[in-house]
Amino acid sequence: MIIAIDGPAGAGKSTTARRVAERLGYPYLDTGAMYRALALALLRQDPTLDPERARDTLARVQLRVAWDNGRLRVFLDGEDVTEAIRTPEVSQAASRISAWPEVRARLLAEQRRIGRAWERRYGGVVLDGRDIGTVVFPEAEVKVFLVADPEERARRRQRELAERGQEVPLEQVLAEILQRDAQDQQRAVAPLRKADDAVELDTTSLSIDEQVQRVYELVRERQ
Ligand code: C5P
Repeated sequence: MIIAIDGPAGAGKSTTARRVAERLGYPYLDTGAMYRALALALLRQDPTLDPERARDTLARVQLRVAWDNGRLRVFLDGEDVTEAIRTPEVSQAASRISAWPEVRARLLAEQRRIGRAWERRYGGVVLDGRDIGTVVFPEAEVKVFLVADPEERARRRQRELAERGQEVPLEQVLAEILQRDAQDQQRAVAPLRKADDAVELDTTSLSIDEQVQRVYELVRERQ
């Protein structure tokens, strides 16, 4: 079974996906982490993210993800970058490079390969991102599109950053989220949008437990 969870930044995708996966005994592939890892590799080579110069880095860099004791780990040329990809700079860079067709083509192939392999191995897999239900796995058995008010999403993202020791003013987090939403919705390839057959869930006033429960129930209905 493939479970696809899409939506804008801060709607609760990763927490919900992780907890639903845990409950089902499935691994969880955070596809945003893969865009973030490539963004980090490119930023390190060239902070201006010039697409021409990026081509070399993209051809050279090795990206690997591993499901390790209930946690996704991300490696760039063997270096564990699981924590390093969680900064506002990397978020913005990931959103920029995710509009590049060559980046999307590479990660699309990887995500399909990993998703199928994990499904075979564990009986199911949860993926979250922007285009899982529309492009990566349009045939997914369960598709959820999470949404929430931008202010609430900004508060959640700010809390997450604070837990990692990064204090960012709320207005700045909100501005970055809105900019990323616009970029992700307006790009030509695989823009952020709800699949026609996805179930939309507004998480603005739901607790994490409630979000997890709703998605879990959807999965049970399809099992
Ligand atoms: O989900 P997360 O916020 O970590 O994703 C970072 C960025 O990666 C997003 O803003 C989006 O531009 C891009 N992304 C994407 N398609 C996905 C997952 C993430 O374009 N499936």
